[in-house]
Amino acid sequence: MDGDELPEPYNARMHLGGKLSFRARLKDTDEDPGDRLVLGGKNPPSLLELCPDDGRPIEIEIGSGKGAFLVASTEARPETFVLGIEAAAGYAQHAAAKLHAAGRTNALLLVDNGKLYLEDRVPEASLTAVHVYFPDPWPKRRHSGRRFFTDEVTAVLARAIVDDGHVFVATDNAGYGGQVARVMGAALDFAFDEAERDRRIASGPGHAFSPTNFERKYIEEGRIIRRYAFRRLPRNGAPDPR
Ligand SMILES: C[S@@+](CC[C@H](N)C(=O)[O-])C[C@H]1O[C@@H](n2cnc3c(N)ncnc32)[C@H](O)[C@@H]1O
Repeated sequence: MDGDELPEPYNARMHLGGKLSFRARLKDTDEDPGDRLVLGGKNPPSLLELCPDDGRPIEIEIGSGKGAFLVASTEARPETFVLGIEAAAGYAQHAAAKLHAAGRTNALLLVDNGKLYLEDRVPEASLTAVHVYFPDPWPKRRHSGRRFFTDEVTAVLARAIVDDGHVFVATDNAGYGGQVARVMGAALDFAFDEAERDRRIASGPGHAFSPTNFERKYIEEGRIIRRYAFRRLPRNGAPDPR
C-alpha cells in the first residue's frame, strides 16, 4: 500500500451523522493485512464490489475492533461472507492481519463509518445479518448522537437486510441496552427474536454473540452482558400483530 491510498486524517465520512474521532492512519507494524484490508477513504467501494456474487449469505459486522468475531465466524461458517466495517484504521489493520494469517478468504475489513456505509453503499435486501457487538456507548449526553442505535438507524437497517434476516447486538451498558431495545422495539420492520438469540448463543463460537475482545474483558470485570436479536419482518407479509 503506498501513502496515496491512505484515507485523509479527517475523512468527512467519519463525521456524517455524528462525529467519530478515530485515527485514520495505519500503524507502523509488522502485521501484514495482505489483501484482507480495504481503506474506504472518501469514496469506498460498494458491497457488490467487495463481496462475492455467488449467492452465498453476506453479513456485516459494524465496529469489528480487533476482529475476534470475524476470525471465529470465518472458521465456523465458511459458507458465509462477512464484511467487517471498522472506523479505526489501526484496529482494522490488526483484524485483517489476523484473517490473512489464518488464510481466511471469506471476510474483509473495510475502514469506513458503518452507519453511512449501510446507507449509501449497500443495496436493498442484500444482507442476511448485521452484527453490532459492544458499540461505543458515548456516555456524555452531548455525544449521544454519535451512537449507532439512534432513531434513524432502524430504516437504514430495514432497507439493507433481507426478509427474516437479523440484527444481533450485545452491550454491557444498561442505558445503551435500553436504548437499543426502545429504538429497535419501536421499529415496525423488526421484531424481537429471543428464540433465534438463544439458538445462536447455543451454537457456540463463530455464530452470533461469539465472544469478542470487549466481551471477554467485561465478563472478567463481572459486568452483565445484554444480548438482543431482532428479525427483519417480511416486506410484503402480514402486519405484525403488536
Ligand atoms: C467498544 S469497541 C468494540 C469492538 C468489538 N466489537 C469488540 O466487541 O471487541 C467499538 C468499536 O466500534 C468502532 N466504531 C465505532 N463507531 C463506528 C462506526 N460508526 N463505524 C464503524 N466502526 C465504528 C470503534 O472504532 C471500536 O473499534
